[in-house]
Amino acid sequence: MEKYCVILAAGDGKRMKSEKPKVLCEVLFYPMLGWVLDSVKQSGTENIAVIVGAHKEQVISYLEKRGEACEIFEQNERLGTAHAVMQAMPFLKKAAEENADVLVLCGDAPFVDSGTISGAYDCHRASKAEVTVVSATLDNPTGYGRIVRENGEFCGITEQKDCTNGQRLIKEINSGVYWFKAAALCELLTRVENKNAAGEYYLTDTAALARSKTVYSAENSDIALGANSRAQLAELNILARNAKLASLMDGGAEIPLADGIIIGKDVKVGCDTVILPNTIIKGNTEIGKGCEIGPNSFITDCRIGDRVTLDNVRASESVIDSGAKAGPFVHLRPGTHLHSGVKIGDFVEVKNSEVGINTCIAHLTYIGDSDVGKGVNFGCGCVTANYDGIRKYRTQIGDNAFIGCNTNLIAPVRIGDNATTAAGSTITHNVPDNALAVERGKQKNLENWEKNNLRIKKA
Ligand code: UD1
Ligand code: CA
Repeated sequence: MEKYCVILAAGDGKRMKSEKPKVLCEVLFYPMLGWVLDSVKQSGTENIAVIVGAHKEQVISYLEKRGEACEIFEQNERLGTAHAVMQAMPFLKKAAEENADVLVLCGDAPFVDSGTISGAYDCHRASKAEVTVVSATLDNPTGYGRIVRENGEFCGITEQKDCTNGQRLIKEINSGVYWFKAAALCELLTRVENKNAAGEYYLTDTAALARSKTVYSAENSDIALGANSRAQLAELNILARNAKLASLMDGGAEIPLADGIIIGKDVKVGCDTVILPNTIIKGNTEIGKGCEIGPNSFITDCRIGDRVTLDNVRASESVIDSGAKAGPFVHLRPGTHLHSGVKIGDFVEVKNSEVGINTCIAHLTYIGDSDVGKGVNFGCGCVTANYDGIRKYRTQIGDNAFIGCNTNLIAPVRIGDNATTAAGSTITHNVPDNALAVERGKQKNLENWEKNNLRIKKA
């Protein structure tokens, strides 16, 4: 049967003090809403509605950027979580017609996982309850809604602000994840009132109103953790970071000292790859086996082969093939492809360029918009001048060429296979295969130069 899902993402997150909506605040460089969407989809729930409100343009543009085919409903005033769900009434009615179930969850609790969503669904179907609430047990339940039971029987959820002193001691809390029978949810929402300390329409009140209800206790209580403030966001980051490092080490990655290492949620690292301190790896990055990454490297959206060394490298949107080495102090900008065995040394920047097998660019060089062949050697201080102030052009360098120190290559220009440029040349014309191009003034020596006379006089 089709499953439906409503994600609440209209809150403004006043406590974050941000110009961003709370649900776009990031845990491991990934918006909390993205974590929730990934888990929902992994659980096989494809009909998704997102409730937007505060900073809605930013939330909508994030969803578009991800290419999410979800329905969007607007909540114009923040009157509470039940009011938020009510905005999706046409979506809920469609679910009700199909006799389907609806998952409701919050966009600010990123650790909910597909296993919990599916486990709760199975429990919900088996119990035939109108609502199944996912609970967790926290040492510090402050701020969360409490699961209230009478003689062990679940009877409702009480928010922190409305708790009696006795209820405040309850450690079993509402994770904010629920499965509802769609038809029951449509009806329950019409009965929720706002007679509570906050004057809001609470979704949590549907539990007490429902004719049949059950609780599914999550195995891992972290799934309930939400971030309402910067401090809580930092706590989630610490938890997520440690969990990510532990799972990479389980997979055979070596992290001898975790100081300053942050690795994004979706990053993959092969076995025997060593990650050294102060290294941040983000986005859609995949690293092979037996590499040494770091110290002090910052890698975003890169595909890296096996046995690659990156020492003090900043790299983004680049491909680095097996056996390549870069560093220290190297900047690899988007569109760089280092083929296998390439060596890049200190103070080299490469952008939007192919660098062929075993090519060596050892010192103080800029390679932009270039196609460099195999086995090329660059001397120190070479520059591809790719920009004439209006347009950009490519530089082509054939296999086994030798680019002398301090060569400027004024694009568009082609250096042939096995060609050489003399040190200090500014090359504006193509160089044929096997040729030597020299472009510099002839050396003149002026004998008995004045300076010597001055020195003799002074003495
Ligand atoms: C809510 C639950 C609480 C639970 C906790 C789990 C209610 C009343 N309380 O509390 O029982 O323990 O989540 O994290 O539901 N939102 C809207 N529109 C609104 C209000 C909120 O879209 O009018 C969205 C927010 O963006 C957020 C989610 O709903 O994603 C939860 O709202 P929030 O204000 O953070 O609720 P909590 O106080 O955390
Ligand atoms: Ca919250």
